Amino acid sequence: MEEQLIQELEMNSSIPDTGIFAKERGWDHTVLVDSVLKSLIGREIVEAKPISHEIYIVTKEGQEYAQQGSPEWRTFQATSPQGTPIQEIQSKLGIVGKLGVQQCLKRGWLKLEDKKLFPQVTQVVDDTAEKLQSLTLNPQGANLSLQDIKQLQSRKLVQSKTMKTFCIQKGRRFSQYREQVATDLSKEMIESGSWRNASFKEYNFEASGKPLTGGFLHPLMKVREQIRYIFLGMGFEEMPTNQYVESSFWNFDALFQPQQHPARDAHDTFFLSDPMFSKPCEDREYVERVCKVHQQGDYGSLGYRYPWSETESLKNILRTHTTAISTKMLYRLATEEQHFVPKKYFSIDRVFRNETLDATHLAEFHQIEGLIADRNLTIGDLKGVIHYFFAQLGMSQLKFKPTYNPYTEPSMEIFAFHQGLGKWVEVGNSGVFRPEMLLPMKLPEDVTVIAWGLSLERPTMILYGVRNIRELFGHKVDLEAIQNYPLCRLGID
Ligand code: PHE
Repeated sequence: MEEQLIQELEMNSSIPDTGIFAKERGWDHTVLVDSVLKSLIGREIVEAKPISHEIYIVTKEGQEYAQQGSPEWRTFQATSPQGTPIQEIQSKLGIVGKLGVQQCLKRGWLKLEDKKLFPQVTQVVDDTAEKLQSLTLNPQGANLSLQDIKQLQSRKLVQSKTMKTFCIQKGRRFSQYREQVATDLSKEMIESGSWRNASFKEYNFEASGKPLTGGFLHPLMKVREQIRYIFLGMGFEEMPTNQYVESSFWNFDALFQPQQHPARDAHDTFFLSDPMFSKPCEDREYVERVCKVHQQGDYGSLGYRYPWSETESLKNILRTHTTAISTKMLYRLATEEQHFVPKKYFSIDRVFRNETLDATHLAEFHQIEGLIADRNLTIGDLKGVIHYFFAQLGMSQLKFKPTYNPYTEPSMEIFAFHQGLGKWVEVGNSGVFRPEMLLPMKLPEDVTVIAWGLSLERPTMILYGVRNIRELFGHKVDLEAIQNYPLCRLGID
């Protein structure tokens, strides 16, 4: 088809109507359009102007009459010159008889007298069948008058339909049709030098890329990346949080959290059964100082006044907060450097709590934590840095409320005004680490450590409009949803 069409254009430079062109060659017009024309048009080999035609389709009933004769003709044939009872015609021909009688009376072919039909003419021509046959061969109705067509339509023997054909002319790239266009530069072309004269298929920059089938980032990971950039932009270093199992010592004891604190209960914390205990801290003097500050107090503090047990501190747990890592980093800062160096640290990683699961709680979630260790920092520094940090998450209206943490004093909960909800929502926790935690590490006395923490899930759920945390995390997550989540940017104002 394609070759014949191109030849025709080479000879006559246009094809006035593809409908006629296809019919002359016995082709199906839709096949010509779908499998040949569309691609030629797309490649600009040809140009096409649409033409609308009214065509007539002979209905199923019409086709039957075209082949078997019309009801009026069949009825006339069934009537004898002596008269035939109408009853007899109708029982012989059924519905066709009924329709035929109506038409015959209307056309004056028959007359009805005493329930009998008498012919009024000697011979009839089945013009209805002839017209239907003509329309079948020539759907444009060229041989019929408009009135004929209307009549057939009113008898529902014919339906009209608009058909689109095309007037075809040579396109912008018609001359390139005969040339082989190369899609790629090949090794052979370079070797033979044929690339010099080859014509290349143009790039289609409008084409959409293949849809990706894998490699989608989870929303939590996308938001984590943005928050990581905020911290890095503020000059913070990332802490190595790549361990989920921690000893109670670094998770609780070193933070001046007493051993009978409810958070250390199996109700709130996951304990490991194997290995149940970690190795004791090698810095025995540090352990001694931690023991002392719990048991009897030190550095001007009264302590908790209970017998501190090292065995209890060696119990392995799934870390309940990333502050365990912060503590270890501060200890390293105090012991590994000769002179104190100010530091800004952050981490974003997973923590575990033995919670009852519901729409907003999981047994594991991610904590974002930032801390600054420097000389003579104040709570004013803490509030300032928190303001700066949250402004980059799109939260610029903040309030602070005093709270209690075993390891910070003072401690403040952070609230942000949520524009969407029209109310204040809790977004984080913060505080100044206690001397009972820092001084046993042997950090200089004038060094203060300010810190704040929040969950990664909270801002992610707000950004991605997720109401139930289980849609975001865990075994009920819909993988397709993960693929389809857009890239949401944290607002910066
Ligand atoms: N560790 C705290 C929590 O688990 C967060 C926090 C970090 C509080 C740093 C104060 C300072 O919620």
